[in-house]
Amino acid sequence: MSYPYQIKSLEDYHKTYAESIAHPEKFWFDIAEHFQWKKAPSSLDDSLNWNFKEPKVEWFKGAKLNITENCLDRHLEKDANTPAIIWEPNDPEEHYRILSYKELHFKVMQFANVLKNNGIKKGDRVCIYMGMVPELAIAVLACARIGAIHSVIFGGFSAQSIADRLVDAHAEFIITQDGAHRGNKEIPLKNVIDDALMQCPFVKRVIVLTHNRMPVSMIKGRDTWWETEIKKVETQGNPICPAEEMDAEDPLFILYTSGSTGKPKGVVHTCGGYMIYTNYTFVNIFQYQKGEVHFCTADIGWITGHSYILYGPLSAGATSLMFEGIPTWPDAGRFWQIVDKFNVNILYTAPTALRSLIAFGDAPLEGKKLDSLRVLGTVGEPINEEAWNWYYEKIGKKKCPIVDTWWQTETGGCLISNIAGITPHKAAYATLPLPGVQVLLVDENGKAVKGSDSTIGLPEETVQGNLCLKFPWPGIIRTTYNDHERCRQAYFSTYENLYFTGDGCSRDTEGNYRITGRVDDVLNVSGHRIGTAEVENAINMYVDVVESAVVGYPHDIKGQGIYAYVILNNEVNDEALTKQDILQTVTRIIGAIAKPDKIQFVKGLPKTRSGKIMRRILRKIAEGETSNLGDTTTLLDPAVVEEILAGKM
Ligand code: WT7
Repeated sequence: MSYPYQIKSLEDYHKTYAESIAHPEKFWFDIAEHFQWKKAPSSLDDSLNWNFKEPKVEWFKGAKLNITENCLDRHLEKDANTPAIIWEPNDPEEHYRILSYKELHFKVMQFANVLKNNGIKKGDRVCIYMGMVPELAIAVLACARIGAIHSVIFGGFSAQSIADRLVDAHAEFIITQDGAHRGNKEIPLKNVIDDALMQCPFVKRVIVLTHNRMPVSMIKGRDTWWETEIKKVETQGNPICPAEEMDAEDPLFILYTSGSTGKPKGVVHTCGGYMIYTNYTFVNIFQYQKGEVHFCTADIGWITGHSYILYGPLSAGATSLMFEGIPTWPDAGRFWQIVDKFNVNILYTAPTALRSLIAFGDAPLEGKKLDSLRVLGTVGEPINEEAWNWYYEKIGKKKCPIVDTWWQTETGGCLISNIAGITPHKAAYATLPLPGVQVLLVDENGKAVKGSDSTIGLPEETVQGNLCLKFPWPGIIRTTYNDHERCRQAYFSTYENLYFTGDGCSRDTEGNYRITGRVDDVLNVSGHRIGTAEVENAINMYVDVVESAVVGYPHDIKGQGIYAYVILNNEVNDEALTKQDILQTVTRIIGAIAKPDKIQFVKGLPKTRSGKIMRRILRKIAEGETSNLGDTTTLLDPAVVEEILAGKM
């Protein structure tokens, strides 16, 4: 079975796109009819209020809903016994779990009652720091059930990073677990929370799920077990938890992400628009058919997991597979074994995961039945042709379209992507904008690049520019938590009346867009976004560091690696040990995901006379360039470049 708003052919795509551009309000108003509202969007004239100057974007303000009624309750009539979540544990020897829509609905209401019992109300911020266990999905949805704003923090972030986020969101409630299994490692999540909480005395309650049952500290009055709390609601006897009525523009969640400056910012998404957008993009891009198994390998700690493990699939009544482990343990055939075991139809993963698996050759594929696969997808970074071809031939057996989905934490869902089997794929291209998405490329001065506007014709030759959006779609970022000016600065101030993505992009003569990578000081390491300034701040905290500069360089598996140029004060005598110390410092301040791959100690950094670091030169050196470093005459001291080149590893 399909969905009435699924695009059916290439012709249908062009027609739908044209309509969505000519009448965006009408387009999304009609899509909104397919959802369950407590009070439906009333008038078309009122469905969108926006300007990119403040910025202000409001879709269907005044309409009322609860996203969990759309993700759970409304499926109970036809799909009570359909699996909502299939959970595959880290260890293949352990038993998997299936939660039907009925069971998930029950567990979400039950845990929502736990949240209420603990004094959590609509609008409160709840931090969730868990591994990929079914209870993570339950916790997220339970927050949404009562209108609490969830802020999921990826399990790889350090105590310091958590503390920064807790302070910024003023989150008084935390949901975590003793520890997580990850390959052959045990990750002590509650311990990390305890370290974070030394800086956050305002936290009132920590609910701790038992999972790997590693020893944890439990503080009387503040910490409580998930299971104990469930027992309490069981004795209270009423399993029902009515869904809180939310305005379409009430915040649903905060998700922190890195930018080119300072600390991560809390991207805010709202209930109505985000729901409509993740659902629409999910059923269209993957052409989801009722009954299929969708396997998105992302972690729910990132936006991909929010949108395409939870809200998109569940709002569509789909079956979403959630995997606790990693692609390479117990061996590099783990993904393929899972596809085989559950007859996965859609596999959505990151190029970095594919590259790491290619390195193991074809042996891990042997004996794995992959013919259930119908659609393959990639996300998070540009995919190189080698990885694309391997995915297409070895995994899809040349029968599965590959959707290359370009989007961002801030966009809520995919904006540029081919539609599986409907619009053509093209290796290394995200291809065409989805309905409602108005793309424009601009030059450095903000001037529109001729032929780059997705709403007007095609270019005569391939054109290139900075990727912007001209018009709001329902899933667009509304604000950065507690700091609206930062939202304006970061996304809406570079070019007038445009949302600027931070990405460079080209467009070919057929209208296909190709993302060329970030044009700001943001790195994409293994599909994770990291700001160079953030890494520099962490390195600079090390006692013997005077100054540092961080740039990205091409990395075979991670896509980008982190290269740090570091100036030490004179007192250091063991450089190898100092490097280890610096890595440990970065791990403490941000998390292991931000550890530099290479550290080069230098005497000076190339700076302009006004003191600005010339990253362009550092980037070239990190990439392995030795001669064509561009103009170095404006440098304060051109000799430092020679010194850096001479000292390069
Ligand atoms: C940045 C956003 C979107 C979920 C995962 C990452 C890069 C994302 C693609 C793609 C080329 C891509 C961009 C973007 N990116 N998807 N298909 N092709 N680049 O979310 O952490 O918010 O990062 O990831 O540079 O700006 P994120």
